[in-house]
Amino acid sequence: MRTAIFPGSFDPFTKGHAALVEQALLLFDKVVIAIGENVNKNSLLKAEERERLIRDYYTDNPKIEVIRYSTLTGDIAREVGATAIIRGLRNTIDFEYERTMAQANRRIFPELQSVMLFTPAEVSDISSSTIRELLAFGRDVSELMPEGVRLENYLTKE
Ligand code: PNS
Repeated sequence: MRTAIFPGSFDPFTKGHAALVEQALLLFDKVVIAIGENVNKNSLLKAEERERLIRDYYTDNPKIEVIRYSTLTGDIAREVGATAIIRGLRNTIDFEYERTMAQANRRIFPELQSVMLFTPAEVSDISSSTIRELLAFGRDVSELMPEGVRLENYLTKE
């Protein structure tokens, strides 16, 4: 069985991320969506809220696993038995960043393949940071979220 890991901050998981998962499932039997728990105090969603959102979206899909991690991506990839790290490319800015990260990962984890997938054009303008910004100005972001996901259901009011 071929397993890939799809790591990211997913703050929040977007329609663009969902499109990449769909593509990855054409190549791999199982995709482990791994939420990197970087200590970012300015995040929109807590790690557990991000996890709940993604789990709810993929509920009943046996090919998807959702985990949180705070190690190197390569270490968690090894742990879950993944042979590939999936990342999405929207533009040349992504490309430069991803190339550097893929090279760093290859140096430390030579057995892991970084697999780049082009984000479909119709969602390639979507980013988690755009969603956060629009939300901060009170705008509706439902069109940028995966089908049927209501972000407000995952925001903990404090
Ligand atoms: O959604 P993002 O913010 O682009 O995701 C970044 C993430 C979590 C994939 C990246 O920061 C990461 O892999 N962090 C763990 C540390 C690591 O393994 N870095 C790459 C090798 S130096």
